[in-house]
Amino acid sequence: MQEGPEGWPGTLILEGKTLANIPIPPVTHRGPAAREGSGFLNPAMAGSRTRSVMLLADALENDWLVTAEKPIRIIEALAATGIRSRRWLNEVPQQHLHRLHILCNDIDPISMQWAEANLKEYPATIDIQLNSGDARSLMLDSGWQWIDIDPFGSPTPFIDSAIQSCSRLAVLDVCATDTAALTGSSPSACRRRYDAMAVVDDLRHDTGMRILLGALARAAARHDRVIDPKLVIFDDHHIRATVLVRRSKEAASDLHSCLGWRIHSPNEMELKASMSAGLHPRDDSGLKQPSCVLPFNSPPELKEGRVSGPIWIGSLGDQELLERMTEERAMELCSPDSKLQKTMNWSDKEMELAERRLRRSVRGLSDSASAIDCPIVLPVDDIPKYFDLPGPPSPSQLARTLRLMGYRAANAVLQVPAIRTDAPWSVISEASMEVFGITPPR
Ligand SMILES: C[S@@+](CC[C@H](N)C(=O)[O-])C[C@H]1O[C@@H](n2cnc3c(N)ncnc32)[C@H](O)[C@@H]1O
Repeated sequence: MQEGPEGWPGTLILEGKTLANIPIPPVTHRGPAAREGSGFLNPAMAGSRTRSVMLLADALENDWLVTAEKPIRIIEALAATGIRSRRWLNEVPQQHLHRLHILCNDIDPISMQWAEANLKEYPATIDIQLNSGDARSLMLDSGWQWIDIDPFGSPTPFIDSAIQSCSRLAVLDVCATDTAALTGSSPSACRRRYDAMAVVDDLRHDTGMRILLGALARAAARHDRVIDPKLVIFDDHHIRATVLVRRSKEAASDLHSCLGWRIHSPNEMELKASMSAGLHPRDDSGLKQPSCVLPFNSPPELKEGRVSGPIWIGSLGDQELLERMTEERAMELCSPDSKLQKTMNWSDKEMELAERRLRRSVRGLSDSASAIDCPIVLPVDDIPKYFDLPGPPSPSQLARTLRLMGYRAANAVLQVPAIRTDAPWSVISEASMEVFGITPPR
């Protein structure tokens, strides 16, 4: 083994198909507390890196950014040991690799020494540039077609420079681990960082994703750009938003049509206003409903505990892309082979666990695709508060029943069991009863 930075070769790990030496025993606990010194690597983020491999492969195969065969300039701006870039190099299909121009950066020079040593130990078929500097100024040196922002905590200090550094059409892939701020459990941090407020209820995970998107959309508009979400996911202790950023003054001027306010326990007037604005399925049953959305330009009284926003009110993802984010695709791109198993001295059981982790990283995404842009997100545990049911209905059964009734509905990938649908509330009531075999009163 070659010479490397102090502590080299550290601990050998295998993530996806990629071997890496990292300086400290891998952090096994989860959450933002998992901050360690130089060369930080959080195994709990492996799923996020698997999705990142799949997204880049998809972008290359389906021409999100440039036409086939054209190169893509990528910056992994806060790379730590550079494992994400190395996973791209190892796991994106070989035939696309010549198109990737990757700059891998971290402000911490020791982290970059580990990245360099890993690249020497496990040479890639294409060159990758390493740099140690402040991401905020480095990004502005060039126009990028793919920007990965993966900070400890909030991404807000990096967002403006990232947006300004996007080429005419680019992917911005942003991670936020300050979920307490985004979901409203830290209201002052939510105000300061995102200029927003959030109600802490069962919709808080959806609200958190939409507050982050709202902040990205507003930053984009400041620089004559608009966003188009490709994949947004709340995964345990972080949110990752992968958005397409497009330059367009005209579309950016229409920013407020993509923003709104979520009203929790709305009154009848608010529900009517939401329906008239086309933001809520029409229903004249007069039944109490858990939430609705009002347009940005018709704000309600901004009362803490009742209103969340500004939130992004557009789609949370790209339906066709989500349909392709299958467990089979994750295995095809990222599953380790028997040679790697031997290198790691893993038992068959350990290989099985690794495969299970790969599958888990995309579980439910393709099933959620068909309703990803639907206006209603409904945590099923909330439903018995509104209708006389023996318990919460199964989300899959409820979604299936709604589809049979002619509406769009699918399980949502959220931290709580939930569906997304475009069905009116009285139809949801009827379908929930049908799941339990109860005949709805006429
Ligand atoms: C969560 S870690 C990145 C993890 C990495 N992307 C991965 O997938 O393993 C955050 C990294 O940001 C780096 N960092 C913090 N501030 C920075 C800045 N202003 N510019 C560049 N890197 C920075 C830290 O040194 C740390 O390595």
